[in-house]
Amino acid sequence: MTKRRPSSARWLAEHRSDPYVAAARREGYRSRAAYKLLEIDASLAAREAGKGLIRPGDAVVELGAAPGGWSQVAASRVGMHGRVVALDLLPMDPIPGVVILCGDFLDDALLEPLRAGLGPSGKADVLLSDMAPNMTGVKIADQGRGSVLAEAALDFACTILRPGGRIVLKLFQGPDFQELVRMARLRFSRVKVEKPPASRDRSAELYLVGSGFRDAPMVLQEHFSE
Ligand SMILES: C[S@@+](CC[C@H](N)C(=O)[O-])C[C@H]1O[C@@H](n2cnc3c(N)ncnc32)[C@H](O)[C@@H]1O
Repeated sequence: MTKRRPSSARWLAEHRSDPYVAAARREGYRSRAAYKLLEIDASLAAREAGKGLIRPGDAVVELGAAPGGWSQVAASRVGMHGRVVALDLLPMDPIPGVVILCGDFLDDALLEPLRAGLGPSGKADVLLSDMAPNMTGVKIADQGRGSVLAEAALDFACTILRPGGRIVLKLFQGPDFQELVRMARLRFSRVKVEKPPASRDRSAELYLVGSGFRDAPMVLQEHFSE
């Protein structure tokens, strides 16, 4: 019999006793990650007079969506008049009300079908990115690849969000972290970095939550209003 490595044995033990795993199974979510989005949504609603992250009728783009916990939450929030487009490198089983695209977000060929899934305007109210690179265990390399994805997702958000739009962006603590937060602050009127309780303590992930997307960066607005 193959001997289990200590890290996989620890993961298995943690998985079995994890209340979020149990809740996901009970409530029909495909991943425990769904609770991170629910917690982020609740904390935004607490800050912004009851207005949560995803609202009825919204158009939502999700990057790094497999296996689909966040997409399930998004689809139930937008309701029948909203739209959700979910993209991942990995194939996903269908979710009612969600357009699923399979491929690399950095591949330009996917941008056209992604926009088409949002309807005639091709614009979104919310951009979600939970993308994470395949972890190698080499901290600096993992952080670097995570930052490349986060920066590309932030740039993309600026092309696809409607003014006033919202973003949730997975970030990894590391050398590029502060610069990404600074860049987000130029484009969103309110930015907060959160570690939702469902995110494991040992994970270096954090979530940037931005609302009030500005079409033009604040620096330019300030420059021209002088
Ligand atoms: C943490 S998982 C997402 C979990 C998901 N939010 C959920 O609720 O089930 C991260 C995902 O990012 C995807 N990913 C990483 N790099 C990507 C890329 N360049 N393009 C698309 N998806 C990517 C991975 O395939 C992986 O499925």
